[in-house]
Amino acid sequence: MKMLKRSAAALALCCAASMAQAKGTVEVLHWWTSGGEARAVGVLKNMLEQEGYHWKDFAVAGGGGSAAMTVLKTRAVSGNPPAAAQIKGPSIQEWAKLGFLTNLDPVAKKEHWNQELPPLVQKIMQYKGHYVAVPANVHRVNWLWVNPEVFKKADAQIPHTWPEFFAAAKKIKAAGFIPLAHGGNPWGDTTLFEAVALSQLGPDDYRKAFVDLDQNVLEGPKMVEAFTIFKKIHDDIDSNSPGRQWNMATHMVINGKAAMQIMGDWAKGEFTAAGKVPGKDYECLPAPGTQGDFSLNIDSLAMFQLKDKADIKAQDALAALMLQPKFQRVFNMAKGSIPVRTDLSMKSFDACAQASMKAFKAASKDGRLVPSFSQSMADSDAVLGQITDVVTNFFNDPGADPKKAAHQLAVAVKSAQL
Ligand code: BGC
Repeated sequence: MKMLKRSAAALALCCAASMAQAKGTVEVLHWWTSGGEARAVGVLKNMLEQEGYHWKDFAVAGGGGSAAMTVLKTRAVSGNPPAAAQIKGPSIQEWAKLGFLTNLDPVAKKEHWNQELPPLVQKIMQYKGHYVAVPANVHRVNWLWVNPEVFKKADAQIPHTWPEFFAAAKKIKAAGFIPLAHGGNPWGDTTLFEAVALSQLGPDDYRKAFVDLDQNVLEGPKMVEAFTIFKKIHDDIDSNSPGRQWNMATHMVINGKAAMQIMGDWAKGEFTAAGKVPGKDYECLPAPGTQGDFSLNIDSLAMFQLKDKADIKAQDALAALMLQPKFQRVFNMAKGSIPVRTDLSMKSFDACAQASMKAFKAASKDGRLVPSFSQSMADSDAVLGQITDVVTNFFNDPGADPKKAAHQLAVAVKSAQL
């Protein structure tokens, strides 16, 4: 009897495996390796496997994905790209222009993407009017994450402006806590700087500086002020921050070592994975001085040209499932983001996600929606690389001068355009 059971199980295993092979494989390159991110990508994997396809995971750790992009380039140049890769913003156009990406119009038509996606998102996912990538979500970058218990112990007020932030930080430090948890690496520094720059420039000048690359705004007085505040924040992070990953910083807020973190809402994925509830265990609010602004980051999978027919079917199946309501709900609840489809109910989402959707819709109407430069949504890799160098060098040099930094920023951005 036992033998019989065993061989039946073996048969089931063998056939599920060969069915998956027969139905094709999708290799997916991503950098979703933190606790919350891994839960979210697990949703995509499971849903694809439920349809009988095979998922080949190609994860390269590192917030912001610069390590992942380096690996992707090597694979693509050697003629062996994965089926799908997490590529965002203007880079989608660059990869398409080089002829690597496949045309997803038939899937898009069948699945009604044009009816489901906001026009702005459609534009980002298309090259010369054809879909080459599929979006997963909408992340807001300009968030402040707060541990209210630490604020209570320090008798400090949750800040909405930079002067309030510095006043609270003073009290928090005096009470023996770290005011701001920070993952000190070039990407983390740039993500923090973006929130400060947005608060000082406002959406119009932010766009002039980081989208139009306007020299006058890049080195203008508002940018100098942004660098001045950025420098001051350095006093409110701990000396162990260099080299720390963003999710480790989130855990400092979760476990009450630090009071705050400024980070995109993938940080919420960490709170959720730790079983924490907004409004009770933590608070989410716009980064100081950015109320009403929405710094936009969209995760998307760009699809590469493949030869194997079964694998192409698997790739199409992956693309099709990403905009389905169930995936949008379950994935985004784990990821900390909101659905990229604005027609879905937000009822089962938490308070932060509901606030994010509200802010997204309002900012889209008011012209306060800006592409996140730190998350590769505004510029070419070359320009972002130059911005990142100036920002991180400034942040880590105690003697650095804000006025000089703004000038260096303008020069560096210009040099990347030559
Ligand atoms: C991505 C997010 C990711 C975060 C940290 C961002 O650039 O868009 O999906 O969670 O980096 O890894």
